Amino acid sequence: MNAVICREVHRHFGDVRAVDGVDLTIAGHQIFGLLGPNGSGKTTLLNQLQGLDTPTSGTVEVLGLDPIRQREQLALRMGSQLQESTTIPRLTVAEAVKTFAAFYPQTREVDPLLAELGLTPKAGTRIERLSGGQRQRVFIALALIHDPELLFLDELTSAVDPQARLAIWDVLRDLRGQGRTIVITTHSMAEAEALCDRIAIIDHGRIIAEGTCAELIARHASGTTLRLQTGAPVDPESLKTVDGVTAVTRDGSDLVIVGQGQFSPKVMAKLAAESIEVTSMNIQEASLEDVFLNLTGRAMREGE
Ligand SMILES: Nc1ncnc2c1ncn2[C@@H]1O[C@H](COP(=O)(O)OP(=O)(O)OP(=O)(O)O)[C@@H](O)[C@H]1O
Ligand SMILES: [Mg+2]
Repeated sequence: MNAVICREVHRHFGDVRAVDGVDLTIAGHQIFGLLGPNGSGKTTLLNQLQGLDTPTSGTVEVLGLDPIRQREQLALRMGSQLQESTTIPRLTVAEAVKTFAAFYPQTREVDPLLAELGLTPKAGTRIERLSGGQRQRVFIALALIHDPELLFLDELTSAVDPQARLAIWDVLRDLRGQGRTIVITTHSMAEAEALCDRIAIIDHGRIIAEGTCAELIARHASGTTLRLQTGAPVDPESLKTVDGVTAVTRDGSDLVIVGQGQFSPKVMAKLAAESIEVTSMNIQEASLEDVFLNLTGRAMREGE
C-alpha cells in the first residue's frame, strides 16, 4: 500500500508559492528522503501531509486517510518530529516521554527507547538543560513512543554528533525492517545516500526529480571526475579524443577530466606515452551532491 499520495498539491502564502503543484507517491515500507535548498517547501509539504495545515488546493492521502478530516485517526498511526519541535522545558526527559505516552492506547516501553537513542544517562535531566543534539534525540523518542507505522522526521539529524547520527540511522533501519515507512528531510547528502531507498528533490515548491540514489546519479550527474596535476602543460583538447571522456577543463592548476566508464587508465596511458609526468591525481565518482547542485544550482538562496 502507498503511504502517501499527493495530487497537484499547492500551498500559497500570499504571493509565495511554498508548495506549487506537487504530485508525489511514497510507497510503504521504505525510507523516503525529501531534499531541497532552504525555503524550497519541504516543511510546508510535510505540514500538509501531517494535517497541520490545509493545502490551498489539491488532495493528500496518508495511510488511506485525509490528514485534515481524519487527523485523530492518523495521529495514532503516525509519528512526527517537527523542525521546530517544542516541549515543556521543565519536564525531565523521562517525564516528557511518559507524558506523551499517556496520549496513546499502546506505547513502547520508555527505558529501552531512551537506551536506543543514547538518552539513558539524561532520563532525569530537564529538557531545558539538554544540549541541542540531546534535545533533538528526545523529539525523535517522542515521535517513536507509540510505535507508529509512518514517521515524518524533519531535519533528521541536523544537530546531532556523528555517533548519535549512526545510532539514529540504525534505529530507523530497524524500523524499516519491521515494515514501517519513514519520510525524512535532510541537508546531508551523505545521510540521504546512506539511508534513503528513494529520494525526491524539491525546489521552488515543485518535485524536480525522484528515484533511487543510483537512478538520480545516472540521470542527473556526469560520471566520474578525474583531477590531475602534471609536470608539463597539457592541451585539454588533446584529451577530449580519449574514449569515454566527455569534458576536459582547467580549474586553476588542475586539469579536470569528466567521463564515463574506464577512461582514467586511458588518459594516464596517453599522458605516459607523451612522457608527461602526473604529480597528483584524484578520482571522484558522481554523487548525490552533484545531482543536487546540478538540479538546484550553486547560488545561495536568500529570503525565499
Ligand atoms: N506561515 C508562512 N507564512 C508565509 N510564508 C511562509 C510560511 N511558512 C513558510 N513560508 C515560506 O514558504 C517557503 C517554504 O518554506 P519551508 O519552511 O517549507 O522551506 P524548507 O524547504 O522547509 O526550508 P528549510 O530547508 O530552510 O527548512 C519559504 O519561502 C517560506 O518563507
Ligand atoms: Mg524546513
